[in-house]
Amino acid sequence: MRDKIVAGNWKMNNTLEEGITLASEIVNMVADELTDDVKMIMCTPYIHLNAVSKIIGGAEKVSLGSQNCNDNLKGAYTGEISVGMLKSVGVEYVILGHSERREYFGESNDFLAKKVNTVLEAGLNPIFCCGETLDIREKGAHYEFVTNQLTESLFHLSADDFKKLVIAYEPIWAIGTGVTASKEQAQEMHEKLRAHIAGKYGTEVAEGISILYGGSCNPKNASDLFAQKDIDGGLIGGASLKSRDFVDIGKSY
Ligand code: 13P
Repeated sequence: MRDKIVAGNWKMNNTLEEGITLASEIVNMVADELTDDVKMIMCTPYIHLNAVSKIIGGAEKVSLGSQNCNDNLKGAYTGEISVGMLKSVGVEYVILGHSERREYFGESNDFLAKKVNTVLEAGLNPIFCCGETLDIREKGAHYEFVTNQLTESLFHLSADDFKKLVIAYEPIWAIGTGVTASKEQAQEMHEKLRAHIAGKYGTEVAEGISILYGGSCNPKNASDLFAQKDIDGGLIGGASLKSRDFVDIGKSY
């Protein structure tokens, strides 16, 4: 069976103090309330990681993630953060290829392929994001566009490395807009992505990969989305900043 995952992407929100409060609430609620086998991941800003790592401690269902990393292992890259540094504070997952980084920081599929390698080299797990703009969807080119993001950034990997990935489908038109993809739209894309992976790595690898949905996911729509055959959880933005909402999404299975 595939891992069920609900990952929160805090983006550039929360002071350290606010982040500590949020993380503590989430860890306590998960321990008290989450009965299902769901992996909850908090992807915090860099400066929160060390403190949140200590709050997580040995908590069973909660893991720590970063929202980015540098593509080099170490060296003279002023202001940057390496995978080794992330690992040293207990990070297990790194979000890569988020549409905001693609758009505002010019991260291309080729460049992301290098970051994927760096993250895997450190023994961490990439949460690789893909997704189309509304314009691309309206032209009917969304399947081709999104599968191509996987081909160009991931298909150089060995099957063993590919198995360490989590994929997140985040249609850009659904991020932070309050307009979520319908469960049918999301399921269709997830099914296409899994078939695309099967075409390269075979059915066994494709069936083992968790594919998350992201984009205006909230406690109200999560259970419908998560009930779809190929949707294995969510990557949550806004709703991950409220402990009640985030944990309720985790309980939506
Ligand atoms: P929202 O849940 O705020 O739409 O953000 C989704 C997202 O970008 C998660 O990475």
